[in-house]
Amino acid sequence: MPFPTERPRRLRRTPAIRRLVAQTRLHPADLVLPMFVKESLTQPQALQSMPGVVQHTRDSLKAAAVEAVAAGVGGLMIFGIPTERDAVGSAATEPDGILNLALADLAAEVGGDTVLMADLCLDEFTDHGHCGVLRADGAVDNDATLQRYRDMAVAQSAAGADLVGTSGMMDGQVGAVRAALDAVGATDTGVFAYGAKYASAFYGPFREAVDSALVGDRRSYQQDPANRTEARREVALDIAEGADLVMVKPAMSYLDILADIAGDPAVTVPVAAYQISGEYAMIEAAAANGWIDRDRAVFESLTSIKRAGAQIVLTYWAVEVAQRLRGGQEW
Ligand code: PBG
Repeated sequence: MPFPTERPRRLRRTPAIRRLVAQTRLHPADLVLPMFVKESLTQPQALQSMPGVVQHTRDSLKAAAVEAVAAGVGGLMIFGIPTERDAVGSAATEPDGILNLALADLAAEVGGDTVLMADLCLDEFTDHGHCGVLRADGAVDNDATLQRYRDMAVAQSAAGADLVGTSGMMDGQVGAVRAALDAVGATDTGVFAYGAKYASAFYGPFREAVDSALVGDRRSYQQDPANRTEARREVALDIAEGADLVMVKPAMSYLDILADIAGDPAVTVPVAAYQISGEYAMIEAAAANGWIDRDRAVFESLTSIKRAGAQIVLTYWAVEVAQRLRGGQEW
């Protein structure tokens, strides 16, 4: 008997063999590009903590959306930054609020060609930066916030969103939003539920991206990074309340959570993951210092998220990666 009898390296010998046996592949259509549009801008503004990402004007947003669609990305997730903020986030529900205007722009520009998604959360719109409205004692008022989310969902749907991305982690938000949409006849508008969303330090650069006013943290509503089982509970609730898709967020430090959700036979809706701002920033920063191979790290990070079970990945690299995939580039 020759030794070793098993030689797994045979399947790694050439690029062609590796390509044949690869179990995980990235595809442009699986990638969703998060985009920021800021009311007060006349020129797109680069973000220091997210090199390559900008806050858009309404016009530059449209142009970037056309580019993303041409690259074949599966969808766009839009965040709005209003000029005026107040305690209840009024601009979130006004038809001429920046996010709703931008959604209408994009619906007209690229509507039939992509999936238009809207972040459904109040943090960009409130002067205190929390994801909901506050009680007198400063705590986020769950049920009062649900009413704001209902109105926001209806406004986003009217503006042209295909999917509303419930990201505020209020209890009952999916059911509230679903009922509100149905009540106005918006039965075709879907709910993209941030099922398991953790209170993460990796959201850091996003604060710059949306000029966040937040003082403190979101630990009384987003999940504790120490907990695993609760993600299954949150996702089960979202599905029971009518979620059309569910998401795990962040991605890279939560691949166990993602694998749990994606591998759960009770989860019969598509599962997505959000590679968030800090995950992007870490790789860009390390690459800028010459410490890692940027292109390989980008692909490896996205591959790991898909391998863990995400069918759809939100990533700030969506356009670049889609273009490289279409060009047939090996990494
Ligand atoms: C809530 C929201 C946040 C992100 C997406 N939706 C901020 C938060 O929960 O603190 C973060 C995305 C990222 O960091 O890339 N509106």
